[in-house]
Amino acid sequence: APDGLRELLLSRIADVPDYPKQGVVFKDITPLLADPAAFGALTDAFVSLCERYEADKVVGLEARGFILAAPVAVRAGIGFVPVRKAGKLPGATLRQAYDLEYGAAEIEIHADALAPGDRVLVIDDVLATGGTAEASLELVRRAGAEVAGVAVLLELGFLAGRQRLGPGLKGAPLESL
Ligand code: PRP
Repeated sequence: APDGLRELLLSRIADVPDYPKQGVVFKDITPLLADPAAFGALTDAFVSLCERYEADKVVGLEARGFILAAPVAVRAGIGFVPVRKAGKLPGATLRQAYDLEYGAAEIEIHADALAPGDRVLVIDDVLATGGTAEASLELVRRAGAEVAGVAVLLELGFLAGRQRLGPGLKGAPLESL
């Protein structure tokens, strides 16, 4: 992202020490969401990535990814598809398990939400270990679509999500704003 945008976005993300547990610094994006100039600039930047990578669908990852991805889809004039935590989607789904720091989790997509030939930009707020993004790319491909790219607001470099996700990108770009 250009320096001005980067500084604006960083200035609207709050560090919350020891949340959700001791030793973890939580990245709180609610100040950014409350500032229409910053939220709008972020949305514009994601829309530009949709255009650059010729995406025709936006996939948002529950829950904070929904907030960021939905206005992008509307402004880009393309469809929004949710990837949800298991058990929340009413139709036939594809399900993907992934590892958490302690334990495991599962996410789902509607089996008919994407079609062969669709080019998908996957949007989330934070790339941490990369487990969520990795599982999402699996779902997008299992649903028959192509991954045009992955775009996040914030990448926590010290958790090496980019390295973990690398092979799963299969050459698709990973952009952090
Ligand atoms: C957070 C964040 C990403 C994910 C990143 O979601 O919003 O989706 O973790 O972590 P990873 O790269 O290590 O997989 P969380 O599961 O806390 O869900 P929420 O958005 O519903 O709060």
